[in-house]
Amino acid sequence: MQHGTTLTQFIIEEQRRHAAGASGDFSLLLNDLATACKTIAHAVRRGELAGVLGSAGTANVQGETQKKLDVIANEVVIGSMEWTGHLAAMASEEMEDILPVPAAYPRGKYLLLFDPLDGSSNIDVNVSVGTIFSVLRSPDPGREPRLEDFLQPGTRQVCAGYALYGPATMLVLSTGHGVHGFTLDPGIGEFILTHRDIRIPERTAEFAINAANQRFWEPPVQRYVADCLAGEEGPLGKRYNMRWIASMVAEVHRILMRGGVFLYPRDRRESVRSGKLRLMYEANPMGFLVEQAGGRAITGEERILEIQPQGLHQRVPVILGSREEVDRIEAYHRREA
Ligand code: AHG
Ligand code: MN
Ligand code: MN
Ligand code: MN
Repeated sequence: MQHGTTLTQFIIEEQRRHAAGASGDFSLLLNDLATACKTIAHAVRRGELAGVLGSAGTANVQGETQKKLDVIANEVVIGSMEWTGHLAAMASEEMEDILPVPAAYPRGKYLLLFDPLDGSSNIDVNVSVGTIFSVLRSPDPGREPRLEDFLQPGTRQVCAGYALYGPATMLVLSTGHGVHGFTLDPGIGEFILTHRDIRIPERTAEFAINAANQRFWEPPVQRYVADCLAGEEGPLGKRYNMRWIASMVAEVHRILMRGGVFLYPRDRRESVRSGKLRLMYEANPMGFLVEQAGGRAITGEERILEIQPQGLHQRVPVILGSREEVDRIEAYHRREA
């Protein structure tokens, strides 16, 4: 019985197409990442049966109370990747500093950034969560890795993607040649290619934002959302749908599948003055995917992927999705609308 194209087969065929003569190192890296995501999926799906729900009782560098699965997922990625020889170092939402690969293992030429469990607030109520990853080249693999090695603009990513632990477990990634989606076949434990070359519809009437923050938003966002909610009689002349799942991975996946825009703008609160989402392991990887699928990802003032990072956990405003709608929101920021 023939199964579809596995992730392994796809990566090797992509490598032949776009990187003939490459070492194969990168293909192995992606396979090891996929194994980490399968392991996390297994823990997520067992939930309370595995005793992995609820708070870990510890705080992370973000000032968030960590869920048990935040910590477990972080450890799964480290354990699945540190021995492989592909990486020089790793960095994650759940670790304050970078994690050089231990001296016991060979070091490789790539740097891995990841959000081990995105949408943690949903895990205890059984709503979809995910894992986000971003891969950079180490500027100098021959020496001890440094924090500044990670501070590269999003345009330098060699790969970005996410796992979505939803009704189906999916892996969606890009190596710079389009965005491709794989669905886990639990029967054989393989990710099978199900969504080749995903493209985001340019137009949409669906936006995702946490409306509870409306009074704090910057005025262009307040004006845009008010116009959307004015419906057919409003300046935009059409009825919009609003969504908010509170898992960025689930929102971005919906946008890749049927279009839409996602907004987490900066607001007047001190803690959200630069936005809430983290540049290095949320905005950059998701921005890379959205652009590769024909969409746009901006802060309101600039393209996310061109930001020169200043810190590992730096936050940025995020407006991403369907090209025409992001263009429209950008016009509000330029006070052209
Ligand atoms: P994380 O769970 O990795 O900390 O990320 C949560 C993020 C993102 O996934 C989501 O879109 C957003 O926070 C939700 O923020 P609010 O809870 O403020 O709506
Ligand atoms: Mn997150
Ligand atoms: Mn997280
Ligand atoms: Mn978190």
